[in-house]
Amino acid sequence: MKEVQPIKGFSKLTKDEKINWLLENYANRPEESLNMLNGYLHSSPEAQQLHDEFIENTISNYYLPFGVAPNFSINGELYTIPMAIEESSVVAAAAKAANFWLDRGGFKAEVFSMVKMGHVHFTWEGVKSADIVDFFANIEQQLWDVTDSLTQNMRIRGGGILSIELKDKTDLESSYYQLEVKFDTRDSMGANFINSCLEAIAKEWKQLGQSSNFGGDINIIMSILSNFTPECIVRAEVECDIEEINEGSGIENIEFVEKFVRALRIADVEPYRAVTHNKGIMNGVDAVIIATGNDFRATEACAHAYAAKTGSYKSLTKATVENGRFKFWIDLPLSVGTVGGITTLHPMVKFAHELLGNPNAEELMKIVAVAGLAQNFSAVRSLITSGIQKGHMKMHLLNILNQLEATDSEKEQIIEYFKDKVVSFSATIEVFTKIRGLAAKN
Ligand code: MEV
Repeated sequence: MKEVQPIKGFSKLTKDEKINWLLENYANRPEESLNMLNGYLHSSPEAQQLHDEFIENTISNYYLPFGVAPNFSINGELYTIPMAIEESSVVAAAAKAANFWLDRGGFKAEVFSMVKMGHVHFTWEGVKSADIVDFFANIEQQLWDVTDSLTQNMRIRGGGILSIELKDKTDLESSYYQLEVKFDTRDSMGANFINSCLEAIAKEWKQLGQSSNFGGDINIIMSILSNFTPECIVRAEVECDIEEINEGSGIENIEFVEKFVRALRIADVEPYRAVTHNKGIMNGVDAVIIATGNDFRATEACAHAYAAKTGSYKSLTKATVENGRFKFWIDLPLSVGTVGGITTLHPMVKFAHELLGNPNAEELMKIVAVAGLAQNFSAVRSLITSGIQKGHMKMHLLNILNQLEATDSEKEQIIEYFKDKVVSFSATIEVFTKIRGLAAKN
């Protein structure tokens, strides 16, 4: 690899200058790379500028397929769920689960609470913890007052700060305390709102501490929302009589549900399985989160912390078979927004919201949780019956054929060939070579 010198002031260069620098220093075939980068630019300069301005140093756009899974019945309403994802089988699996449950009562979903949290993390070296407790009690109202102008609009919408509490964390870290602040951010994810409030509270807290000199310095370490939102939680569930299952792969209903429950128990007790099991859930969750312009990093971090809340990493979904009924559900902490962020800026995101009937945050939480549950149902269903590779490789076949640069007619023949066979990479190459060979001879 060529030795590249560090560059100062890169962000100040024009887009063309940035691209030239990259191509000169990193590209094997600069002209080809330039054409490729330009090929992914938006045809409308205004739309491109919008994308350029989402982040710093934008040089092109990065496409993900935007797919849809229709026929999701959620609390009696029918949805077509938008999904942005690169993995071949995810949308197909979601659509399959949607159809399966459409005939068996559909999905139910319920939001239990929508409280979000943030912290002012600080140290206080005082001797008597009663001093800081008393001091906080005396000045708490002033912490509320200092956020008045920041929370005004949110209060008009019915949200705002719910509580401010002093937490003694000195058992975890010497001199460590928090102001734990709870928020209702209505239909916005609220990260900027929460962080602005926390910073204002932290500044006031420090100043009041200094001026009253109540027994030790307050040293603010940081003020930040928590992406762990165990009090912002949604449940999605399905249930049906065991006789209604008839899942189609020839397995008896009772054997299917018992294997299903067993598979979930394995994911509960065995972290090696739990991680893959939950990854499958996040296939559905993230795809909707991305399509609707939400923060998939926060969603992921939160879901996994929740899966480990007992101290060991467990399945996010649960299933039971009782009194002739099969029940399957997920409890998922989710912080999503349907206003703010890029929800009203990114044209595809706007369309995704439109497809969902412009849901509020509570409705979107339900839809996302359902997508995760559906994904997990399809994955476990395949795993305990046909195995995952049959469906997965069928969906992946086109990727392999594109990698081989197969023509449309070759694709057609090879897809037809694999209709009743299990796809593998080597088998695809074999058939492809045969067809190419024949075509070359003819
Ligand atoms: C693949 O992306 C996801 C699965 O591995 C999930 C699972 O094993 O449950 C199929």
